[in-house]
Amino acid sequence: MPRKCWPRCRRRRIAGMSEQPKVGTAVLRVLQSADPATKVMAARRAAREWRLGRLAHEFDETMPDMPARPDRPLLLDPREMPRRGTGTSIPRRIALIHALAHIEFVAIDLAFDMIGRFGSQFPREFTDDWMRVGADEAMHFVLLDRRLRALESFYGALPAHDGLWDAAKQTAYDASARLAIVPMVLEARGLDITLQTVERFRQQGDLMTAKVLNRIFHDEINHVSFGTKWFEFACERINLPPHAHWRQLVKTHFKGGLKPPFNDSARRAAGLTHEYYSGIELLTNMNLHLSRRRTGEKVPPKSSTP
Ligand SMILES: [Fe+2]
Ligand SMILES: [Fe+2]
Repeated sequence: MPRKCWPRCRRRRIAGMSEQPKVGTAVLRVLQSADPATKVMAARRAAREWRLGRLAHEFDETMPDMPARPDRPLLLDPREMPRRGTGTSIPRRIALIHALAHIEFVAIDLAFDMIGRFGSQFPREFTDDWMRVGADEAMHFVLLDRRLRALESFYGALPAHDGLWDAAKQTAYDASARLAIVPMVLEARGLDITLQTVERFRQQGDLMTAKVLNRIFHDEINHVSFGTKWFEFACERINLPPHAHWRQLVKTHFKGGLKPPFNDSARRAAGLTHEYYSGIELLTNMNLHLSRRRTGEKVPPKSSTP
């Protein structure tokens, strides 16, 4: 009689060891990839493996303080960034797309860092949601880089803003602060301004870039809604009222101030109702300018959002 042969997975169970790769490891691989194409590939792979149930919901790895970055683009202090101007020339259009591509590149790391750093504190659905976000951000980056190449440029051809990881550093040890600032302030800011940018590209006859940005706008509504959903989950767990707690976290961790006008309907679609941001101290361009004049602070170029 032939010897009974157990399937491989059964043999592993008998030996008391799980050889299934861990989600923490897959996420770390994304953060440690510097080259844009490698980072995109690692992001897509992690999202696919997770969706197919091939990664264990285990987080043993420590996330890096700063993700790996390619040699190019050169990262500059926001105050040293060259001004883009407002005209319609091809170089100005390229500069704007390049800035947006950089935002999406950093957004890949922000989504995977959210999983690797905080995933163990939440149910599996938290990882489901941020894997979707990470895969979307990788796609957004690819679409914008493709637009740059169509205009005979590429990601890395111009310098980029070095301040986009600051919010992650500020909120590295508090899941509710991270959720309050990254998706609910920075990505929500994208909802306020993206449709105007879509219109600018349309008016310049660049319908392909307008189409890409319109797609990004709709995906970002989902990203903000995941932020709001998990922020409210975290508040319920610590028994704090979400609106007041969010306002407190924004005051503590986000010095820029919220800038109106808001796209109320897009924010509402993402669950970010007016109750969150009404009453919060709004720093309009006017009082921002006045406060800087009082303190003698240099005025940086326009801030960006992921
Ligand atoms: Fe995005
Ligand atoms: Fe996003």
